[in-house]
Amino acid sequence: MPIHLVQADITCLPVAAIVNAANGGLLGGGGVDGAIHRAAGPALLAACQLLRQSPDYRQGLPTGAAVVTPGFGLPARFVIHTVGPVWHGGHRGEPELLAACYRNSLRLAAEHRLATLAFPGISTGIYGYPKPEAAAIAVREVRQWLAAHEWPQEVTFVVFDAESQRIYERELA
Ligand code: APR
Repeated sequence: MPIHLVQADITCLPVAAIVNAANGGLLGGGGVDGAIHRAAGPALLAACQLLRQSPDYRQGLPTGAAVVTPGFGLPARFVIHTVGPVWHGGHRGEPELLAACYRNSLRLAAEHRLATLAFPGISTGIYGYPKPEAAAIAVREVRQWLAAHEWPQEVTFVVFDAESQRIYERELA
């Protein structure tokens, strides 16, 4: 079964890559972004600062885009940073941008031949995306990708609360 669901702290998962729900500045934040930077250590921030100096990311990471760095102090080898949309009611392209976060993260995992990938609930915290709608997009995009690609081989949805667990269980049923 290539899709798993677990209620856990994503920074503890020994997968090839964890996905970070970052902001466009790429220099850390609260929520899962803060947890990942704390667990990875200052080398992750240094790597992100270096990215920001490169021509591609001087303006930061656009919403929906993804970029990979090493995981440093994390058990995961890599971190795929992606910027989810802030929820504004669903009529400013939020669904398409959230879908792009999942697709672009999956594409990077495939390009790097990463076998195992773990996603948090992108945009469902500080960015306010309703959890049911976000989970439906996440499951749809991952299922579509895995049906058409060899990599990654396993994707884990990591939830951080019982409500999200129930929502994903329903989506994955
Ligand atoms: N492990 C797994 N999931 C977590 C963890 C963790 N350690 N910490 C938080 N979460 C969950 C939240 O409960 C939420 O469901 O991750 C989901 C995403 O929440 P946020 O981290 O708030 O991310 P998001 O809503 O995408 O907002 C991004 O928040 O942290 C800042 O810099 C970040 O500005 C950006 C914004």
